[in-house]
Amino acid sequence: SETPASLIMIFGATGDLAKRKLFPSLYNLYQKGKLSENFAVIGTARREWSHETFQSHVYDSIKSAGGENEGIDQFASHFYYQAHDVTDSDSYLGLKKLADQLDKKYELEGNRIFYLSMAPEFFGTIASHLKTDGLTDTKGYKRLIIEKPFGHNYPSAKELNDQLRHSFSEEEIYRIDHYLGKAMVQNIQVIRFANALFEPLWNNRYISNIQITSSEVLGVEERGGYYEKSGALRDMVQNHMIQMAALLAMEPPINLSTEEVRSEKGRALKSLRPVEGDEVEKNFVRGQYGKGTIDGKELPGYREEANVDPASNTETFVAGKLLFDNFRWAGVPFYIRTGKRMSSKDTKIVVQFKDIPMNLYYKAKNELAPNLLVIHIQPDEGITLHLNAKRIGQEMETTPVKLNFSNKGLHGMNTPEAYEKLMYDCMKGDATNFTHWDEVSLSWKFIDNISAVWETKKADDYPNYASGTMGPKASDELLEKDGFFWWPVTSLDVKDY
Ligand code: BG6
Repeated sequence: SETPASLIMIFGATGDLAKRKLFPSLYNLYQKGKLSENFAVIGTARREWSHETFQSHVYDSIKSAGGENEGIDQFASHFYYQAHDVTDSDSYLGLKKLADQLDKKYELEGNRIFYLSMAPEFFGTIASHLKTDGLTDTKGYKRLIIEKPFGHNYPSAKELNDQLRHSFSEEEIYRIDHYLGKAMVQNIQVIRFANALFEPLWNNRYISNIQITSSEVLGVEERGGYYEKSGALRDMVQNHMIQMAALLAMEPPINLSTEEVRSEKGRALKSLRPVEGDEVEKNFVRGQYGKGTIDGKELPGYREEANVDPASNTETFVAGKLLFDNFRWAGVPFYIRTGKRMSSKDTKIVVQFKDIPMNLYYKAKNELAPNLLVIHIQPDEGITLHLNAKRIGQEMETTPVKLNFSNKGLHGMNTPEAYEKLMYDCMKGDATNFTHWDEVSLSWKFIDNISAVWETKKADDYPNYASGTMGPKASDELLEKDGFFWWPVTSLDVKDY
């Protein structure tokens, strides 16, 4: 159904995220008739722009995201711009005046979303001004969407959260983790809770290990400045990887309400065993990319990238072992792996089932392959189930087969962008696919133990993987120690591993 009337105020509206994701996502909703005609957007940033300049910027961003001509002008006419200095009250009063005018003009019922898509050091300041300068003083709903990074560690995240909470309640804060907007990440719960087949097996009696990989081909690109302070652990593991693990590990919620789903995810994270001291080096592997070749292109190592220290100790790759200490998961490792400049862009989850009690087919030299459930998150979207079946012919020989389901195939269309879903959810007031403070704080505490050890110890073998590979050797050894290996990354329809 359609969103309620809303005013969306975007801080950092001249930036990259707004251009690549936010405007095209809003446009898609508009085109599908999901966005109420009663909407307006106020873009704000330091730059002095007119409404017209902003509108043509919005127009261009939709065109370059591949939008059709249809209605873009009409859509862009709902966009307004006001230059802004985040520390200056007068600036906020100007925004308030414009917001109040648009409220009347478009009958927005005082509903307001404040979207912070800019440098995190200003999040707290902006949130306080929004309240003290009266922008949140409205008869409709008010919601704050906040991009990552949500703090740099637990103490800074807590400080930020305390600051935000002066102006917004927990229910009004929508912390973005864009992985939660991905169609196949949302599918994790449907696969688990809408099928008779998996949930009975979803525990340590039948599952031997779970592997979550999110590999990227891109390097650090223009984000050296940010990434140097972050590294893969904070950039990907604290949020996306741990969120996916929580969705796989959580107990079935009693219903799908935001509170219940978040509370089950939070409970799962409470059972995540802390990795501290000596355990860090045993359970977590870090890596940094060196030079290498991808698709015939020679690429520089991380230390040669712009805004990166030539002796940088920042990790661009992390592999780790997570253990959930609860009845369901005791003894089942959840391996995670993420990195930049790897051989392919691929996010997937492999659930490996335990071997059957005995192999009746051993005489025919048949090793039975373990059953695998593979959830392909991107670029392919789908599910593969790996089974053993009889090989065609006279002998009773087995062969591994795959059952494939492609999410795209079913609908014959591209699934909507994560941001499109998340913007829609926020306007509808559904915070299920945003992260609750409990989850954020638990995952930071988990991460802080690891970075505490890494920060005091230099990784002296950097760079330790070549661009275009699946990471350092130690990542393979992490699984080999436990008798497992990373299942090769294969796409949905391509030949067997
Ligand atoms: C972001 C990270 O959160 O996720 C980036 O900051 C990373 O470094 C990106 O490239 C990956 O997202 P996706 O959707 O391309 O897998």
